[in-house]
Amino acid sequence: MTTRKHLIAGNWKMNGTQASTTEFFNSLNPADFCTQSADYLICPPATCLHTAQDAISGQKLPIATGSQTMDYHESGAYTGELSTDMILETGATHAIIGHSERRQYYNETDDTVSQKVEAAINAGLIPIACVGETLDERDAGQADTIVTTQTQHALSRVPKGTCPSKLVIAYEPVWAIGTGKTCDSAEANRVCGVIRATVARLLGDDVANGVRILYGGSVKPGNAAELFGLPDIDGGLIGGASLKATDYTDIAKATAGLTQTACSV
Ligand code: PGA
Repeated sequence: MTTRKHLIAGNWKMNGTQASTTEFFNSLNPADFCTQSADYLICPPATCLHTAQDAISGQKLPIATGSQTMDYHESGAYTGELSTDMILETGATHAIIGHSERRQYYNETDDTVSQKVEAAINAGLIPIACVGETLDERDAGQADTIVTTQTQHALSRVPKGTCPSKLVIAYEPVWAIGTGKTCDSAEANRVCGVIRATVARLLGDDVANGVRILYGGSVKPGNAAELFGLPDIDGGLIGGASLKATDYTDIAKATAGLTQTACSV
């Protein structure tokens, strides 16, 4: 039992067209998404954000949308980038920041992550700041140090009085992303606890107790309930399994009964 509401966030990465986005949402049933047990979010490619919004409204689904990255500049000569205003204009409410694929392939650094988290919060966009160690780092016994350092950087420009609902952190061990290897649930919960303790040191206990910390890395219908049932895991950031409407629905249903509010699903 936790007082934090779970967040079931889908990260479609570079998958999906406007047609497949519409098809995905049209095949979801609003009755499967209990808003008392969780909040729901899909982060499609930027070109599908408007399409997703239209389909969500048409289907009356309680699902928010988010972008997969953003720039921290307000506007200007930054070819290919998306500003917070551009993202907000689509109706999106969240932005994934510092995903390991952005860190690995697009030179996202701890410093740009911290600038983006600050810009997102200032603009009223909820950042989902991603942290996580590689397999080499884990094998070298550095997992806790890496996630702590990444969390410290991600939060370094977040003001102390920030409302915890304005921020989400995702623990995504790099070796578990897209590999089918899920982090052992007790270990994922332990590392999320390390992150929460870091939030407490930086921003205080109230923020640490209220902030949602997600687990990401090969979450699927078969392991979602076990992961989400643990005290420091407040939902998931789901890649591959969020592309399939049936899998996303089953993962959403795995949150039923996990919060203090009763839910009929
Ligand atoms: P996965 O991706 O669920 O496909 O492992 C998770 C993520 O990268 O956010």
